[in-house]
Amino acid sequence: MTDPGPNGARATTRRSQPAPDVSRNAGDLSRFHPQTRAVLAGRGGPLADGAVNPPVHRASTLVIDTLDGLYGEGKRTYALEGMAVHQALRSALLEISGGAGATLAPSGLAAVTLALMTIARDGGEILVVDSCYGPTRRLCDTLMKRLGLRTRYYPARIGERIADLMTTETCAVILESPGSLTFELQDVPAITAVCRARGVPTIIDDTWSAGVYFDPFKHGVDLSVQALTKYQGGHADVLVGAVISADAAMAQRVNRTCREMGLGVSADDAYLTLRGIRTMPVRLAAQSAAALTLAQWLETRAEIARVLHPALPSHPDHAIWARDFTGAAGLFGLVLRPMTKPALKAMLEGYALFSLGFSWGGYESLIIPCDPQITRTAEAWTAEGPLLRLSIGLEHPDDLMADLAEGFARAAAAS
Ligand SMILES: Cc1ncc(COP(=O)(O)O)c(C=O)c1O
Repeated sequence: MTDPGPNGARATTRRSQPAPDVSRNAGDLSRFHPQTRAVLAGRGGPLADGAVNPPVHRASTLVIDTLDGLYGEGKRTYALEGMAVHQALRSALLEISGGAGATLAPSGLAAVTLALMTIARDGGEILVVDSCYGPTRRLCDTLMKRLGLRTRYYPARIGERIADLMTTETCAVILESPGSLTFELQDVPAITAVCRARGVPTIIDDTWSAGVYFDPFKHGVDLSVQALTKYQGGHADVLVGAVISADAAMAQRVNRTCREMGLGVSADDAYLTLRGIRTMPVRLAAQSAAALTLAQWLETRAEIARVLHPALPSHPDHAIWARDFTGAAGLFGLVLRPMTKPALKAMLEGYALFSLGFSWGGYESLIIPCDPQITRTAEAWTAEGPLLRLSIGLEHPDDLMADLAEGFARAAAAS
């Protein structure tokens, strides 16, 4: 199955038919591990001219040979539709996370917007998880509201009780698991079962799992959003997003909306993202292992009230993580015991390895205090002390541990 797409001539169904003009691996890649598929997907083909990687066409205009070709159905006539490198990137995404079509967007937030614009209905209502990514909440409370779409926020752990909130006006349910900053896990299959029974589409922000550690489509989700800026890009140098659709009909709707909105991704950014994907599963495994080591060590520290890491048995939703995920990303939270502001400042500003920064998923470790940006309206966030979020990079875990230990010592000296 193929469907016409605005970000390239075709969006391919995973494994059954990889993009014909860029993939020499036209066969079924499903027998391989994700790590191997990430290396093979979207490679080669006649356009690559023998090179391992696809060409980067810096293009706007495409010149067409014939009059018929100018208006011929299904022909790519403008580079906003995407070139070979976009097609290769989309193939790679589908190989890794499954789904019937991948549509690219110029950032993760643009991908959230694209998914919402695809299902938005004037006068409709969407149910959005209270622990969603902050700018997703801003999008719902501002632009979507102006366009006539109402939003109701629901507690992350609602499970099948989502049914109690649904009305005839409900046109979509938005999930994110784990939640941004506070790391609650959702019972995704319980929620999607209710939604499917009522014909209400679901959208999940699956950026945390990178589409590697969680399979949204196996769990009944219709649209999966990936901020490729994070683990796929992996090097803090690119902003790209994707909406991945469970079936061809939904992929067509997303592609049409993307065309209507005029969204595009530069060939250079698509190339960088695809290059990141080649090493993503390996980076992710290293970052995942280091993050768990650090999380376990942090649990033993007197300065810490709670570590919010789904792979720790102490996490309240650990059973859901063990049931639905095959791994954990390198991003987790921790609640400190109460600490004075000067102590927190001394700790956070003095690290040799951890930098203060809002993104995550790159090769470099980051830390942020989260309290100033937490907004919860369905269920209050309560904690024993300040909330921090750590994104673990590729530095050696021993060095990161020493860096954090020195931070605790600075905090003690400043209290
Ligand atoms: C969970 C989540 N979704 C989406 C995004 C948005 O991605 P981008 O920064 O590419 O817009 C982010 C960025 O931090 C995020 O954390």
